[in-house]
Amino acid sequence: MRNGRTTIIATVNFKGGVGKTTITWLLARCAAKDQPVLVVDGDAQMSLTTAVELAEETGRWHSDEFEQWFHQHKEQKKSLFHALERFTDGSQHFDFPVNHYVAYKFNENLWFVPATPDLYWTTLEVFDRDRVRNFIPAFLRKLCHASFLPDFRYCLFDCPPSFSHLSFSILTNCDLILVPVNPDVFADRGLRILVEGLVLVLDPHPLPKVAVLMNRARPYRGTFTRETLEFWQLVEDECERLRAERSLCIRPLSTFIPDRVDIKRAIPRGGTLPEPYPRIFANLWGEIVSFAQER
Ligand SMILES: Nc1ncnc2c1ncn2[C@@H]1O[C@H](COP(=O)(O)OP(=O)(O)O)[C@@H](O)[C@H]1O
Ligand SMILES: [Mg+2]
Repeated sequence: MRNGRTTIIATVNFKGGVGKTTITWLLARCAAKDQPVLVVDGDAQMSLTTAVELAEETGRWHSDEFEQWFHQHKEQKKSLFHALERFTDGSQHFDFPVNHYVAYKFNENLWFVPATPDLYWTTLEVFDRDRVRNFIPAFLRKLCHASFLPDFRYCLFDCPPSFSHLSFSILTNCDLILVPVNPDVFADRGLRILVEGLVLVLDPHPLPKVAVLMNRARPYRGTFTRETLEFWQLVEDECERLRAERSLCIRPLSTFIPDRVDIKRAIPRGGTLPEPYPRIFANLWGEIVSFAQER
């Protein structure tokens, strides 16, 4: 809990399509059943923002309400990018007045900071890394201090598939990095490359705890296919090696998310998660929370 209250969880994998956006969103919804949660789209491609709010059939936002809100979000310069610009503008004071157009309310407990394409700037060397570093805790403090926003217990970030200055601030301040992998040959190899890469780019800051989870596990007769279990074994072995070689705090989670096409329908606003996913996500969230809280 870096800002005193909010536990920050960042979903990361430089490989696209592993399920970062899907998992971040479904976990946030699950967590928000009991406590205030902020979910942030940190990806300039706006994958979470469009997955939740854009109607595929029409190519337009689902609701006029969101459309108008989002217009004001950009118009009034209340986006994450604008906040970052203000934070790094060289002045002593972080001058970013929070109003209703900073975070969008899905319900009492679930709030959302969408992405805007100008986040692409954060992948370029236009920002000073060390200046950006404390941005995320300062931004969250601002939000938690606003009288019309709840004290967020958790903040979940959907991180971009590339490393940006924004990711630097998220990852050096988060309590837990969540890495989804799929049952394929990149599972263990990709994990090592990702972890070694993160150690390099975050240096001299330590890598936070890393939780690895199996997404798109192929179900078979009440368990999972032999292939899925074999790839998972390789991931567990890789975690063990990374722990031993680099003294990292990295853990494979035991809850698998099965592969099923209809998970997609649960993502847009108003979509419901088919059985038995609600229980699976509740189990997964329980594992994540207890790992994040361990000393
Ligand atoms: N468990 C799953 N079962 C079936 N499809 C999934 C599952 N997880 C993700 N997907 C699908 O895979 C695609 C990529 O997922 P996404 O969350 O966008 O990945 P990323 O954010 O890592 O690029 C999406 O079409 C999504 O609906
Ligand atoms: Mg994504």
